[in-house]
Amino acid sequence: MGDARARGLVAVSAAASADELAEVETTLFGRKSVLGQIKQTLGSLDHEHRATVGRALNEAQLALREAHAAAADDLATAARREQLRSEQLDLTESLAGPGRGHLHLVTQTTERLEDVFVGMGFTVSEGPQAETDWYNFEALNLPAAHPARSMWDTLYLDLGERTELGDGEGGEASNVLLRTHTSPVQIRVMEVQPPPIYTICPGRVFRRDTADASHMPVFHQIEGLVVDRGISFTDLAGTLEEFTSAYFGKAISSRLRPSYFPFTEPSAEFDITCVLCEGSGCQTCGRTGWIELGGCGMVHPNVLSNCGIDFEEWTGFAFGFGIDRLALMRHGIDDLRDMYTNDTRFLAQF
Ligand code: PHE
Repeated sequence: MGDARARGLVAVSAAASADELAEVETTLFGRKSVLGQIKQTLGSLDHEHRATVGRALNEAQLALREAHAAAADDLATAARREQLRSEQLDLTESLAGPGRGHLHLVTQTTERLEDVFVGMGFTVSEGPQAETDWYNFEALNLPAAHPARSMWDTLYLDLGERTELGDGEGGEASNVLLRTHTSPVQIRVMEVQPPPIYTICPGRVFRRDTADASHMPVFHQIEGLVVDRGISFTDLAGTLEEFTSAYFGKAISSRLRPSYFPFTEPSAEFDITCVLCEGSGCQTCGRTGWIELGGCGMVHPNVLSNCGIDFEEWTGFAFGFGIDRLALMRHGIDDLRDMYTNDTRFLAQF
């Protein structure tokens, strides 16, 4: 029996797979196994022998069962390890595939816009995305009850007890919001920089809007601000025309339509020739040949005063337009959401 036990242990440790181990199991414990046969002879032994042989048989079986269970465990662990190894995803494979990443289309567009304006003598300014009511509205000639506030569907931040974000007039929780346009950066620039001012302010803005093909609750604008002696509406029109042909090429020009913004007077809407049909009229431009890009106007005297600038001495103009939509038009993309789904197959095209 000692022999059978030793051979059994060798067979168990030699099994290289769960299947092999299952076979070993039958030969060790089945009715036809050595131990099984010994068991069948137990009945014919006399009392004394039966007890000794029985005990030895139990011990042998126990030892083999333990060895078998341990081997089964080891094999299962090894099989699991092998499965994990073979199913592992190589997340670095994209590096070897379509090549290195690049800047997002909106970032590329912003950088190109900056280049064009810097080439025209503008500096680049930035401001915070979480703003106070003062910078986003009040200082821009939009007091608390002003009806035109509804032009900007605002997302307010609930800061609870924290008020340290506020500066200037703001600070209470309900006064802190996600800026709805880049115009508050006009105020921040004029507060610290004496004229002459020639600056642009690109950045992210937020509105309470449902995402669709032409709207996103988070999007990008670029603001322009000029304050100098003797600045007139013709300077505004000329600057926008110069920009339009520098950015889009000579085939595209600009036009202004009367409009209303509380922080500019007079105010205008700024259109460019439809870049898709070059003015002949298509679906994108509603057959008008023109596409609206943004708003503009002469900086309102109240706004200059709010920043401590003497409006008798200085005048200025401002404009602001959406960057995302511009990128969309330039590349003939028909759904704004595609730019933010982050499918690299889409993004890699630009
Ligand atoms: N801030 C305005 C908007 O978001 C655009 C604008 C900027 C209009 C500057 C006039 C002057 O709609």
